[in-house]
Amino acid sequence: MKKISDIIFVCNNCGNEFSKWSGQCGFCKEWNSLKEVKSQKYKSLKVRSVNNIVEIKNLGKIDVIKNENENVFSTQISEFDRVLGKGVVRGSVVLFAGEPGIGKSTLLTQLVGKNGGLYVAGEESAEQINLRVRRLGLSAERFDVLETNSVEEIANVLERTNNLYKIVVVDSIQTMLVESTVTGTGSLGSFGSVNQIRESTFRLVELAKKTGAAIFIVGHVTKEGDIAGPKLLEHMVDTVLYFEGEKNGDLRILRVSKNRFGPTDEVGVFKMEEKGLREIKSDEINLLSGKGESKIGSAITIVMEGTRPMMVEIQALVTESFAPMPTRVFSGIDTNRGRLLVAVAQKVLNMPLYKYDVYVSVTGGIRLDDTGCDLAIMGAMYSSFREKTISNKQFPNPILVGEVSLLGEVKRVRGWEKREKEAKAMGRVVPIIYSIRELKNLV
Ligand code: TYD
Ligand code: MG
Repeated sequence: MKKISDIIFVCNNCGNEFSKWSGQCGFCKEWNSLKEVKSQKYKSLKVRSVNNIVEIKNLGKIDVIKNENENVFSTQISEFDRVLGKGVVRGSVVLFAGEPGIGKSTLLTQLVGKNGGLYVAGEESAEQINLRVRRLGLSAERFDVLETNSVEEIANVLERTNNLYKIVVVDSIQTMLVESTVTGTGSLGSFGSVNQIRESTFRLVELAKKTGAAIFIVGHVTKEGDIAGPKLLEHMVDTVLYFEGEKNGDLRILRVSKNRFGPTDEVGVFKMEEKGLREIKSDEINLLSGKGESKIGSAITIVMEGTRPMMVEIQALVTESFAPMPTRVFSGIDTNRGRLLVAVAQKVLNMPLYKYDVYVSVTGGIRLDDTGCDLAIMGAMYSSFREKTISNKQFPNPILVGEVSLLGEVKRVRGWEKREKEAKAMGRVVPIIYSIRELKNLV
């Protein structure tokens, strides 16, 4: 028997698999695109086949699209619509990517629950989906579940139901395969293999065009390597959405990284609650950082999430270190950015941070990649270090906005007017600061 190696090499560009590494992909001729992948990470499930339409529940109670010219429709979830541009485009394919456990199935269950549609369950059983639908209090009459791992099966069902569905969710692409392409054994034919993921996506794109259904494809992204995941599919689909958030927080951000039908700078904000994901409206976002009163080790900033300003609290804990190497823990901000700010603080504010542990976190559990929060990070660290709140007579409770340079200068950032306006609306002031040295006057 031929021994199949555990390690294979997958081209990041075209997805072809090789048993040996080489500097250039033998297929697409891309250089340095081969990455090592453990083939046992590919699951080998059995194809759950449903030859019987009975598995689909409550068929026929879905809103059939009445107006054929109506090419874009609302998701009935305004944060979702905002991210998509106008709404869902019929016949389009949306890749819905995110880390496992972040809430992809939850939000898409809500999407189908509000609009009606077909939910293809490749990971969970129809019963599990059913349970979730009930738990979320969605109108189950309009919710059909197809339990399968076969793309042909999906095509079959869409055909047999006469293209009834305007929304089809495929959860997840890592559990789908095109049965007719499975030849022999080995990683090439298993679920989750790059070839199956690509082939399945390709078929689903065709299917969307043919039936006019908007197909939402769930794709798991893993921290260590998304090679067999969404990255590979981005060019095949119309829209790519990323659902993000910190696991220990309950805030979720829906971002769009590609959109053939709309802008890519909008974000949707949700909160994971007991009854699923709740939309967070603009005026509510600001409540997320508590009451926003001054606290030692805390600074309030306004970041831009897409085109929207959002008030966020940064907390820092700066304590004397007894370890040979002081601890640096940054959550919600880039580690390198955090280290850089620590170095600037040490140099410009004379904070002896080399003998202090530094912890910085963003409350609400979101990740910031807006340099406009630099000053607030600096402020929170300084406040914790000095054990004083950031607040003085002239600026009680100021909002700190600005990018910090290597020399400790503070620069204006994109969306300044919007941030200022937002602060004003909340009865707060964004002081104009030119150097982080001025923080000394603020505490
Ligand atoms: P899920 O949608 O299954 O994540 P994904 O499909 O991205 O892997 O959501 C997983 C988590 O969400 C799970 O830990 C439980 C939590 N959750 C809630 O807090 N409230 C809810 O109403 C639901 C359905 C899930
Ligand atoms: Mg899921």
